[in-house]
Amino acid sequence: MATILILNGPNLNMLGQREPSTYGSGTLSDLEALCAATAHSLNLTVECHQSNHEGVLLDYIHAAGSRHRLGSLLGIILNAGALSHTSIALHDAIKSISPTPVVEVHLTNVYAREPFRHHSWISPVASGIIIGLGFDGYQLAIQTLAKR
Ligand code: DQA
Repeated sequence: MATILILNGPNLNMLGQREPSTYGSGTLSDLEALCAATAHSLNLTVECHQSNHEGVLLDYIHAAGSRHRLGSLLGIILNAGALSHTSIALHDAIKSISPTPVVEVHLTNVYAREPFRHHSWISPVASGIIIGLGFDGYQLAIQTLAKR
């Protein structure tokens, strides 16, 4: 069964407790369960990882490139959290695994928030971007990768 890798970056382990008026009351476990159910309905599986460490995310991205080349991985759904706005290393990593599709997701509409969230180093190298739709954004990202 084909797999989609779901990578959540810094502070996303705090969903549910973290600024609920911004991020909602759902936890990371709720989000991962929703993604698993969505993938299952499309005959796919998801592999979910969260890390607060840039280097760990880089390692997952590099390994995903090899898995995509071998045909076992459809692509990556990446919410890099605040690293989206700062990490040239993540930008370079996504370029290094081209043509592996990477869908950038943000729970919140970053353009309606502070100016420092308006720039993403992920966006120029992402296959697509889904912003501001909460957990639904991950479901849409799974659906679009399923079509590839
Ligand atoms: C976020 C938006 C980022 O600006 C923020 O740093 C996050 C979460 C989102 O999903 O809306 O940690 O990526």
